Amino acid sequence: MESAVAGVVRSLGASLKNLGLYPTTHPLVRTPVEKCHAELAPFFTDRSELVLTVSDGTLVLEGVPIFQLTSSLELFMARLGTIGLPAVIFERGVSVEDIELFVRFLHETREQGVPIPEIKSRLARWGVTHIRVTATEDEENDDFTLAREIYGSALNVVVRALKDVRNGKTPDGAESDRVVREMSGMVSRNRDAMLALTLIKNFDEYTYNHSVNVSVLSLAVGETLGLSESERIGIGVAGLLHDVGKTQLALDLIRKPGTLTVDEFEEIKKHPEEGFAILGKMTHIQDSTRAVVREHHMRFDRTGYPRPDPEHRMNAHSYVIAVADCYDALTTMRSYQKARTPQQALEIMRKLAGKSLDPDLVELMERSLGVYPVGTMVRLNTMEVAVVTGTPDGGKGEPKVAILFDRSGNPLPAPQGVDLKEPDPSSGRPRRMILGTVNPLMHPPVSMSGILQAVSF
Ligand SMILES: [Fe+2]
Ligand SMILES: [Fe+2]
Repeated sequence: MESAVAGVVRSLGASLKNLGLYPTTHPLVRTPVEKCHAELAPFFTDRSELVLTVSDGTLVLEGVPIFQLTSSLELFMARLGTIGLPAVIFERGVSVEDIELFVRFLHETREQGVPIPEIKSRLARWGVTHIRVTATEDEENDDFTLAREIYGSALNVVVRALKDVRNGKTPDGAESDRVVREMSGMVSRNRDAMLALTLIKNFDEYTYNHSVNVSVLSLAVGETLGLSESERIGIGVAGLLHDVGKTQLALDLIRKPGTLTVDEFEEIKKHPEEGFAILGKMTHIQDSTRAVVREHHMRFDRTGYPRPDPEHRMNAHSYVIAVADCYDALTTMRSYQKARTPQQALEIMRKLAGKSLDPDLVELMERSLGVYPVGTMVRLNTMEVAVVTGTPDGGKGEPKVAILFDRSGNPLPAPQGVDLKEPDPSSGRPRRMILGTVNPLMHPPVSMSGILQAVSF
């Protein structure tokens, strides 16, 4: 064990040291990374992650201290210390690319004491997916803060892109690509934190939040589908920009409450083609992303708009955007529509399966969000009302919940997280269980920020 552990760290150190002397593609940089990857593999047969920490000036991997320091190991430890990384976690599934990028990150980061959320955000941006860094405690909280920041910057990117289009300028595709990479990294690391933010439904800013939400939801589905990194980015960018063509429409038409006239609907129908044209002028946009933006209203049964030619083959990712688009629209309150609970939305979507939506994807979306998606308000058998704050570990079992109202309907001073597995001492059976969902509109004192506060436990 001890020598295996030392081998892993020595390889990391060797690669880092050689990176100071040779270009990234040089075998002396690349070979130790591959060696490290091979040396890590046996550890993952019986555990899902491996923790590397620096404690009291000693490198410790999985609790095994490494005393015999070579010069490259010393350099490695010094870099961790300077950047301010108390712990690095290698997850099962870590790739050669992850390790290579991580070593490059250590090499290229020149600042001292970088805050953990910033390190996380950079690693996500670089596309490192199976190496995490942690400040050891409050990690969940950190994730939520980071998710919030990432959501905020995605919102900014959309606002800027739409403003550019309105001013006759071409939006910067690199920005969309960057922010989608960040969101994708966050969805992989803490899906609940990212999905909780899609609950933000801002009526005035509907188009902006809607765009980011569709992107996040598509990324979650894309991850469940096991799509490759580049496919996921493509789909996320399509989600972010799917309605960019609406900027060409008159604002009062987009915001019009109630039903549209035939002529108005004809106008709305132009936005996928407009979007396709705008994306054609942008850099960093994959061809498939462009196609998906054009196809997002064609519907699964091909009866939508623009009406596809009989021989037209639709991009499979267009169906993913359609499902995410539908879910977010249904759960948002607009002037002409009440917001549905996540479950009501999924129920409606089940009826649309095979018609406008791909039935397999509706099912996958349900699975991907869990039986009780994050943010769902539920009534417990104790008659308390709670909000779902996390999906069950591994997708099975009970979700995480926080109680918002006591059995008499009085709001608690602060959300109280409870464990649904906790047994009742007398019967041995779980003390609390979910009876069903509750319409959040029945509980006006709960604002979305209250729910988010509960989710961010
Ligand atoms: Fe649309
Ligand atoms: Fe949309």
